[in-house]
Amino acid sequence: MNNYRKLITLDEFIFQREKDFAYSSGELSGLLRDIALASKIVNREVNKAGLVTEILGSAGTHNSTGDDQKKLDVFANDQFLSALKVSGECCGIASEESEEYIPFTEHQNAKYVVNLDPLDGSSNIDVNVSIGTIFSIFRRVSLSGPCVAEDFLQKGTQQVAAGYVIYGSSTMMVFTTGNGVNGFTLDPSVGEFFLSHPDIRIPGKGKVYSVNQGNYINFPEPIRRYIDWCTTEDKPTGRPYSFRYIGSMVADFHRNMIQGGIYMYPPVAPSNKGKLRLLFECNPLAFIAEQAGGKASNGEIPVMEIEPTELHQRLPVYIGSAEMVDKAEEMLRKSKMVEKV
Ligand code: AHG
Ligand code: MN
Ligand code: MN
Repeated sequence: MNNYRKLITLDEFIFQREKDFAYSSGELSGLLRDIALASKIVNREVNKAGLVTEILGSAGTHNSTGDDQKKLDVFANDQFLSALKVSGECCGIASEESEEYIPFTEHQNAKYVVNLDPLDGSSNIDVNVSIGTIFSIFRRVSLSGPCVAEDFLQKGTQQVAAGYVIYGSSTMMVFTTGNGVNGFTLDPSVGEFFLSHPDIRIPGKGKVYSVNQGNYINFPEPIRRYIDWCTTEDKPTGRPYSFRYIGSMVADFHRNMIQGGIYMYPPVAPSNKGKLRLLFECNPLAFIAEQAGGKASNGEIPVMEIEPTELHQRLPVYIGSAEMVDKAEEMLRKSKMVEKV
């Protein structure tokens, strides 16, 4: 018999907290439940991925940013899309897997829109390594009728709720509605998420840095200097830090949320651009990080202060423990000042 501390299901938690939600009309609760349901279906498929041919491998198509779409990317996208469409609590979604936003014209009076990375870390699907789903919920800015691009292109500070699901050694849903961060673990035997990580606080500093170190020679000089600083011995600050990189942002971010650390995806030559997407990855995780006491920056300003101009906008990102993000920003700023002199 398992010993649960307290059996609070995700549904109960949402019901109890509904009055604290910024807009407590029940639709936001419905959206969170829809996302949880779709994630359970995706989880079911992930768990038998090695046994069935429909899940592993490439779908033979590419998404709008040119990434190879995996079968599970397409499957997850379809699941989230239909769960959100059927219930009528949002008037449209934008997804990393679709070039344009998708209006739900049959629900054009709904108040919310959702931005989605249905399957994060798709290069890890075929090799049985943790992957995830990331979501971000906004109240629409258009007043009525079908949703418009501006509804999706809102600054991260306007998010009403955001979260992620990690399909890892256990499956967890972690989210915020702007009132702290809570984590729920799926008990697959009963098909319910239970509150397992109440009020998550990210440690102010950690001992882990996560970056695609293989890109080192293609990072700008100040980033190389920051990485060198992370790997330099200095007992008082606990350096050298450990290096951990899973290659699924959700999984790297989740580890750092629990243990402390910084995740970085800096600009990479020759494009000198970041890879990760503002709407689908960085804004939602920035909201979670800040609500847990951490930080998220593009190297100059907080991620959530960036004014989005396009759906698939990419940016450099430094996210995690507040002191570590501050240090990375400080080193980037210093080198900018030196450049100017
Ligand atoms: P996605 O699978 O949604 O396209 O996201 C992959 C992202 C992110 O999850 C991960 O941290 C990063 O890409 C890994 O990129 P590299 O392989 O370039 O390190
Ligand atoms: Mn992703
Ligand atoms: Mn993805």
